[in-house]
Amino acid sequence: MSGCKLTARVSGVGKALPERRLTNADLEKMVDTSDEWISQRVGIKERRIAAEGEYTSHLASRAAADALKMSGLKAEEIDLILVGTSTPDMVYPSVACQVQKALGAVNAGVLDISAACTGFIYGASLAWGMIKAGCMRNVLVIGSEVNSSVVNWKDRDTCILFGDGAGAAIFSAHESETEGVLSIKLGGDGNFDELLYLTNSGCRPFPDVAGRYIMMQGNEVFKQAVRNMYECAINVLEGAGLTAADVSLLIPHQANTRIIGAVAKRLGLPDEKVFVNIADYGNTSAATIPIALCEALEQGRLKKGDVLVIDAFGAGLTFGAMAIRWT
Ligand code: UT7
Repeated sequence: MSGCKLTARVSGVGKALPERRLTNADLEKMVDTSDEWISQRVGIKERRIAAEGEYTSHLASRAAADALKMSGLKAEEIDLILVGTSTPDMVYPSVACQVQKALGAVNAGVLDISAACTGFIYGASLAWGMIKAGCMRNVLVIGSEVNSSVVNWKDRDTCILFGDGAGAAIFSAHESETEGVLSIKLGGDGNFDELLYLTNSGCRPFPDVAGRYIMMQGNEVFKQAVRNMYECAINVLEGAGLTAADVSLLIPHQANTRIIGAVAKRLGLPDEKVFVNIADYGNTSAATIPIALCEALEQGRLKKGDVLVIDAFGAGLTFGAMAIRWT
């Protein structure tokens, strides 16, 4: 040890998206909606839908394999696999177990995280904590969802919003005073548990709902999302001794371009400092941030020394953010 602080850096990223595209024009034939309404109110043009037999663990494993390849690590060097998901193949074994099997990551602990759309940031924060504590060197964090399996395709309020996909990032030990993960904020508010929930997804019966469906009070969720994502971003910047003016790139949860726009406006960030890919994939819940991170790197939008803020919000309520100086 050089006397430098032990922190974590991202050593590899990957993503996996199903091939099938569901466009707004397709949805116009399924429910009373329009491309114009969806484009203007939400910003989505199309979303990906998993093929029959293509499950959350398959997408997660593909994204993870790419992240592993980029990192140059061997599967046996992964100490922990954390998967943020609300649509696991089954409750147990966990998706993390399936990923471990697919990769041959025989030395890894395995755990799924239930934090809805904030699952990836919860995972990334736990990864940082384990690495900082000196317990682990490489933690694979994944967000993976097959939301199409829990969407009520007759409900226009929700069915236009969601898509399937997975993203992965490996957090690896890094000794630095200034680079890597700088700060985190995790939060929640169970008082708003009625705003967004998944029926018939556990031991509680929902006698009035004949299916496992996403239920949402959209405009209330919208307000909570803007407030909490703004506050989380400010919190991690303060924690890192920075201000919004220092941010090179904000990768927000991709739920609605108007939510993203409102958060960016409050932070005073211009469009070019905010990553948005919701038009292509819709809301892939826990997967939006790692997919976006992967694409931001592919597009050369992050370079050494940049300050990245990832910022998410979801059912629970759950919310959280992380500031990283890229290296
Ligand atoms: O991942 C984290 C959780 N999710 C979110 O963060 C989503 C947060 N919420 C939202 O993004 C927005 O609230 C929605 C996109 C869900 C809805 O947008 P909104 O601007 O809040 O619309 P609204 O629910 O207030 O509805 C406005 C109108 C209503 O019609 P009336 O009552 O004004 O006649 C709706 O019935 O839009 C109607 N509407 C639609 N029209 C065409 C609702 N859904 C649709 C639709 N197509 N798909």
